[in-house]
Amino acid sequence: MKRIFAFFCTLCAIITGSAKTLVVYYSYTGNARAIVTELTNHISADVLEIQPAEKGLHYEANNYALGMQLLNAISAAPDNAASYPAIDESRAIARYGSTYSTVIIVTPLWWSRMAAIMQSYLFRTGADLAGKKVGLIVTSASSSISGVVADCKRLVPNANYLSDNLWINNSNRANMPTLVANWIDACGLNQAQTALQIKVTAAGKTFEATLADSETGRAFAALLPMTVTMNELNGNEKYHYLTSSLPTDAYQPGTIQAGDLMLYGNNCVVLFYQTFSSTYSYTRIGAINDPTGLSAALGSGNVSVRFEKSELTSLTRNAQTDSAPCTKVMENGVLYLKHNGTTYNVQGQEIR
Ligand SMILES: Cc1cc2nc3c(=O)[nH]c(=O)nc-3n(C[C@H](O)[C@H](O)[C@H](O)COP(=O)(O)O)c2cc1C
Repeated sequence: MKRIFAFFCTLCAIITGSAKTLVVYYSYTGNARAIVTELTNHISADVLEIQPAEKGLHYEANNYALGMQLLNAISAAPDNAASYPAIDESRAIARYGSTYSTVIIVTPLWWSRMAAIMQSYLFRTGADLAGKKVGLIVTSASSSISGVVADCKRLVPNANYLSDNLWINNSNRANMPTLVANWIDACGLNQAQTALQIKVTAAGKTFEATLADSETGRAFAALLPMTVTMNELNGNEKYHYLTSSLPTDAYQPGTIQAGDLMLYGNNCVVLFYQTFSSTYSYTRIGAINDPTGLSAALGSGNVSVRFEKSELTSLTRNAQTDSAPCTKVMENGVLYLKHNGTTYNVQGQEIR
């Protein structure tokens, strides 16, 4: 039964076509595009190319003056949407949403900054990347990439960044395929996705949550199952002090989202049930996938909350070790899935 359910988890992913990794890139002269081509030789990912709305511009003309002008406009008012060049809307601009657990940004460096149009995209979508695994690959002629990294962290402040960025420049470009392959290995991107799902239960209502793929998320998972009393604070959060500390990687999220599961200091677990602005620093533990009803379940006072690993976590892992191919077949307008000679309907029930 478990195996069928595990298999069904895989089927669901196939039916919805939900890739777990998005590669988003901009390329003016083709170097970033070549990196993306190499990336997709190694990993399965959706690819989204960002293009500017205004066509035919020569960013390199007059000693790269237009490129600089666009970046200066962003620097003058980085919080104003009007400062960012318009994106070509005729192309599908996927919102990240919950579809992707990993997003790889591939961008050229301009004047030691992130190319302007990639900044436009991240300005609009960066908030959707909170808690997601984000990798950064930068291509430049020779300038080092610290300014691009800073732009990325300004625009996407709440992501779980991969520890290594990849920098391709004119000196190492001939080795780009090897460098990309090594980077993928170093980041573990070619391994199966094992986002850790847990269940959070309060007052008889259970919520699915996803833990951050980080030392903190894994250390928290190691404590489960755990039932604790969480104390009410400020009408927006419940907290509990652990008896041991967890690894920290604190940042200022700015906006707390209802459902965020955070670590305050190194041992205070905080479950937020309202969305609000905050100046405090936290380390992300994870987030409730759908916080609808969370506030009601947690109530207005102290509350007992149970955290436990979701069965889905181990079952999904089983599914990932099942390497037999699964094919979609359409018969009389009905979609079926075939696996190991058996046909299933889209609910995962064996048909024949
Ligand atoms: C407007 C503009 C500004 C640039 N500024 C720099 C720079 O400051 N330092 C550098 O090393 N390369 C600079 N470059 C070169 C690009 O970073 C490099 O050629 C990159 O590989 C281009 O990627 P692409 O082919 O995907 O567009 C600049 C290119 C442009 C168009």
